[in-house]
Amino acid sequence: MDYFTTTSAAATRTGGALVIGVYERGKLGTGAADVDKASGGALAKMLKGGDLCATLGRAIVLQNVPGVRAQRLVVAGLGKAGEFGVRQFRRATLAAMQALDEYRVRDLVSYLTLEDVAGASPYYLARYTVESIGDTLYRFNEMKSREKKGGLPLSKIGIAVASRGDGTRAMLGAQHADAIVSSMNLAKDFGNLPANVCTPAYLARAAQQLAKRHAKLQTQVLNEADMKKLGMHSLLSVSNGSVEPAKLIVMQYKGAAGKQPVALVGKGITFDAGGISLKPGPGMDEMKFDMCGAAAVIAAIATAAQLKLPINVVAIVPTCENLPSGTATRPGDIVKSMSGQTIEILNTDAEGRLILCDALTYARKFKPAAVIDVATLTGACVIALGHHLTGIMSNNDALAESIATAGITADDRGWRLPMADEYAQQLKSNFADFANVGGREGGAITAACFLGKFTEGLDWAHLDIAGTAWRSGSKKGSTGRPVPMLAEFLLARAGALP
Ligand code: BES
Ligand code: MN
Ligand code: ZN
Repeated sequence: MDYFTTTSAAATRTGGALVIGVYERGKLGTGAADVDKASGGALAKMLKGGDLCATLGRAIVLQNVPGVRAQRLVVAGLGKAGEFGVRQFRRATLAAMQALDEYRVRDLVSYLTLEDVAGASPYYLARYTVESIGDTLYRFNEMKSREKKGGLPLSKIGIAVASRGDGTRAMLGAQHADAIVSSMNLAKDFGNLPANVCTPAYLARAAQQLAKRHAKLQTQVLNEADMKKLGMHSLLSVSNGSVEPAKLIVMQYKGAAGKQPVALVGKGITFDAGGISLKPGPGMDEMKFDMCGAAAVIAAIATAAQLKLPINVVAIVPTCENLPSGTATRPGDIVKSMSGQTIEILNTDAEGRLILCDALTYARKFKPAAVIDVATLTGACVIALGHHLTGIMSNNDALAESIATAGITADDRGWRLPMADEYAQQLKSNFADFANVGGREGGAITAACFLGKFTEGLDWAHLDIAGTAWRSGSKKGSTGRPVPMLAEFLLARAGALP
């Protein structure tokens, strides 16, 4: 994709399509006002006549508008003028793209970036534009034998800006967004691939291939024998039931000499059948998405490498399958984790925490400044927060705050849940140091408390993405979240934001 910025007025621009907007009660957006003037009041007339819908989420394509040089005009509804914020901005951009879906548009310029969007700078408006467009252009057709059509042939995106200084900042936003979109596409592909293709070995190979593309990125893959030597019996207990061998993928991006790294740990269960504590059949196919945490951290470190950020990042991905078989771990089995703590596995379906705990212990080796794990960890988090916000749990207020803030600015939000000590009591075991489950109540938090037993002394946060990593139903598919949140966190930490 190519990007450019322009200070020229909408009516004077040539090209495939211009995106402009109209507010309710007849108010025209900046680009629309310009077009209206050039067309002798055509837009205002259409709006009055009820032929342009100003409702947010609606958009239409006009052709041969007098006074307009571009081939097509996409008029997006912007809703109420006083309520036009970031979410509305993105919604309008999405609607414009949907309206263009049937057209063979190769290049477009968005004039929505000239609107006054509550608190958003030209940098962020460019980013949201490119990220929203990237999201609509994504297709997953790899597994279809016939239908391979790829949506719009769009190859050039223009961003309207008010001044040349804004143009410089908007270009930076477009460039950052381009890297974020590529990473999200990668994460979506990993998530959408079926578990018979996206195996632990597949993820490991993909991570190694990524390292070949970036000079400062390295990948190392530990096998089961390596993990056994390290004492990762908790992790290995999960892969016992599967013929696919477990892997521990370790990626290092070194963009700054001497700085302590940020460690990202991602749950990479390539399929979660529950093990002996077998899950019910309906909807079980969606447990191929149980590696979306792994996908997100691999994508996040790839973003840092792509943008050559001046920071150090380590991505650690424990990956295996959770299947029942004659060699699978039984409920009641007790294992010793790498940390030396023993765990009574009362439910083999609470497997994410069993692989993450050993990966978190392994992360200490890098003396990280902060550790963030990302996991489709609990159905309970979906009950608590639905599919809108990612659960954030942390032992460090400042870290939790900076992650939540990154989520807000990146429009990929999370919400903090408490990790009070009372919850940890629910993990008591009669036979081992503690159990891997703490009952149904507060399930997202007791899972975090389990992980908390392995992160003492670390500045650590846990992101539960069970509700946000993928969509079900007719739009079933990976969302690429929380890549924008993680990328924003790394950009901020690197001091790379304007
Ligand atoms: N991968 C699941 C969590 C999950 C379930 C995510 C449904 C999204 C939708 C996880 O491994 C799991 O099975 N968790 C159990 C934990 C329970 C046994 C304590 C759960 O949430 O039911
Ligand atoms: Mn499970
Ligand atoms: Zn799982």
